[in-house]
Amino acid sequence: MSSRLSPAPTYTNEYARICVSPIAGALGAEISGVDVSRPMDDATFAEIRRAWTENLVIFFRNQTLDDDALIAFGRRFAPLFRHPNLLTEGPYPDIVRIRRMPGDKQIVGEDWHADTTCMAQPPCGAVLYGVDVPPYGGDTLFANGYLAYEALSDGMKALLSRLAAVHSDITVAGPQAARNKHRTNKVREDSAWRETVSEHPVVRTHPETGRKGLFVNRSYTQRFSGMTAEESAPLLEFLLRHAARPEFTCRFRWETGSVAVWDNRCTLHIAVNDVWKFPRIMHRVQMCGDRPV
Ligand code: SIN
Repeated sequence: MSSRLSPAPTYTNEYARICVSPIAGALGAEISGVDVSRPMDDATFAEIRRAWTENLVIFFRNQTLDDDALIAFGRRFAPLFRHPNLLTEGPYPDIVRIRRMPGDKQIVGEDWHADTTCMAQPPCGAVLYGVDVPPYGGDTLFANGYLAYEALSDGMKALLSRLAAVHSDITVAGPQAARNKHRTNKVREDSAWRETVSEHPVVRTHPETGRKGLFVNRSYTQRFSGMTAEESAPLLEFLLRHAARPEFTCRFRWETGSVAVWDNRCTLHIAVNDVWKFPRIMHRVQMCGDRPV
């Protein structure tokens, strides 16, 4: 058995080319036996991709990824997605350099979220590489959206099956969001910036696994379609808290050279804002996804 459909964590070795070791009951597995910076044969990548969809987020240790290697590895999953709001620099506009410096009070990803769900076609995933990781602090938590959905009552599932939600970047970018004052990473705040708004089903069916998962998040989901924010708030707040219940999560302790690849279609994540004394520098690419249904 190698699937998260099983209630028990599995230390599977139904893989011929890689070793997959789950790190928590809900989701997350470390993969060893592969150097992701090097060109990889299709059979090895197929196992990595299967481990990704089965475990929702996968981790690699002791990797060395220059910009070209990070881009090449991300492209194995899907064409790269360019972030609409985070400002990038240099000749690699698909790479976001996530930097926390001593003195930063705010950080990228400090609320539970799926990435960039304001887009009509949000990214299917992301690759995050630890370039300079503090000796302690700066962990990332992930949550399993399938488990969050499956734990709901039949009555709630029936209610949610009829609901869509409005996702917007109004609180995370643009001049009104005032995100740039207290952090090193900057988002667009120029006067030409315009809000991006999309509607998505509250329960999404994963295009590869066919499983249903809860698809709302604190950074982007503003309200249910056809309702005001005030009317939506009680149920939305319940869902946002429910989705982050500890038993649906795993926590990843970074080292320099660690790599995480998450499936943005069925997970949430949050960067813990507890690095005050040290820099924390990560490089990220995102991969294109499809319209949630
Ligand atoms: C993100 O939200 O993509 C950043 C996560 C992290 O820095 O740990």
